[in-house]
Amino acid sequence: MFQMPTKYVFGKDSHKGIGELVKPYADKVLLVYGGGSIKRNGLYDDVVGSLRSQGVAYVELPGVQANPRYETVLAGIELVKKENVRLVLAVGGGSVIDSAKAIAMSVGTDDVWACFSAGAKLNAALPVATILTIPAAGSEVSPDAVISYKGRKLGFSSQNIRPVVSVVNPDIFVTLPKNQIANGVCDMMSHIFERYFTQTEHTDLIDSLAESTLKTIMRNALLLMRNPADYQAWTEVSLAGSFAHKGFLGCGRIQDWGCHAMEHELSAQDEKVAHGAGLAVLTPAWMRYVYSEKPKMFYQFAVNVMDVKADRDEEKVIRAGISKLECFFKALGQPSSLHELGFSMDAPLEEMAKKCTGEGFVGNFKPLYWQDVLAIYKASL
Ligand code: NZQ
Ligand code: ZN
Repeated sequence: MFQMPTKYVFGKDSHKGIGELVKPYADKVLLVYGGGSIKRNGLYDDVVGSLRSQGVAYVELPGVQANPRYETVLAGIELVKKENVRLVLAVGGGSVIDSAKAIAMSVGTDDVWACFSAGAKLNAALPVATILTIPAAGSEVSPDAVISYKGRKLGFSSQNIRPVVSVVNPDIFVTLPKNQIANGVCDMMSHIFERYFTQTEHTDLIDSLAESTLKTIMRNALLLMRNPADYQAWTEVSLAGSFAHKGFLGCGRIQDWGCHAMEHELSAQDEKVAHGAGLAVLTPAWMRYVYSEKPKMFYQFAVNVMDVKADRDEEKVIRAGISKLECFFKALGQPSSLHELGFSMDAPLEEMAKKCTGEGFVGNFKPLYWQDVLAIYKASL
């Protein structure tokens, strides 16, 4: 099933129409944002100006952290109860949007965390609207949220929390620091990898769409590394970031999601680890660990995406493709080892691997049990 009901509004100045966009849903909203970037770049003034011009009242929840915490979500839930808001408006990246989604869930369950930790049922949610400030997580179009609490970082998925409206104005991204650009690019590429590498056969259409989306991201990411204010490059990267995660590239195939599961344990262990940086470290190690399960898929990736010359020596081509990907991540300034992310030989890797898989396994391209996850962590050290 493919369903993407979000009204997706893209282009210069598009955020200035946010008042009009949320008005049909609410005359009072909870405005959620992060640590202050939206005040520094003037976005906050535009947003509250637009809400006011449409007579939409608002209360605020600032201060959402990267790798967002449940404690902040609880503060938002209190505001929802007290202030009678009808929509949650997130102005930020994945962390802010995911917090907004978790807050919105509070009208559909007595215990929001139980949805994340124990798969409790969600009956309803307040509508969520977003203004994206960093293309990365794809949360502006996804039905997912990821929240940290008590040493775990866990995801939850429901169509109830897919945003009703998302605004993407590439002009907002031109002030992003290079490390955040790199984190975003690695995350959106991973969202494609998690879908692309599949054991499902006969997937030509989506394979080629995924490949061209990856190439578009990589080409334009390098332009952004040279000039983060390149508006045209941002239009390509930000649109691709949303397409990477809206679900379309997962049609008709069994998806993987092993790298995401392994990365969430890194960020849960140390909240300073950015999701995209963790993925940049783990992805090449995962590729080397699993490619023999279906070499032709990795051969196709090497030739079609990484521009490795076709050759009869399949293994040589595959390994060259993975090495080229590693070089690309390095060109973005990403770390290439867990060590560079701050993990030493003494890190509790076995414990993390067991938390990651629980009693079962993660991933589908090759099911990874805790021993496999541990081997990938060790290979990434
Ligand atoms: O807090 P502020 O001051 O806004 O600073 C943020 C934050 O420090 C900064 N930033 C954002 N926009 C900016 C900016 N700085 C300058 N100019 C701007 N325009 O960037 C930093 C990182 O923000 P964050 O929201 O954490 O980044 P991202 O969008 O990468 O989100 C990462 C989170 O999303 C989750 C990740 O696990 C992680 O917790 N994910 C959510 C998914 C989903 N809901 O579908 C899927 C993803 O796979 C991912 O797991
Ligand atoms: Zn991700």
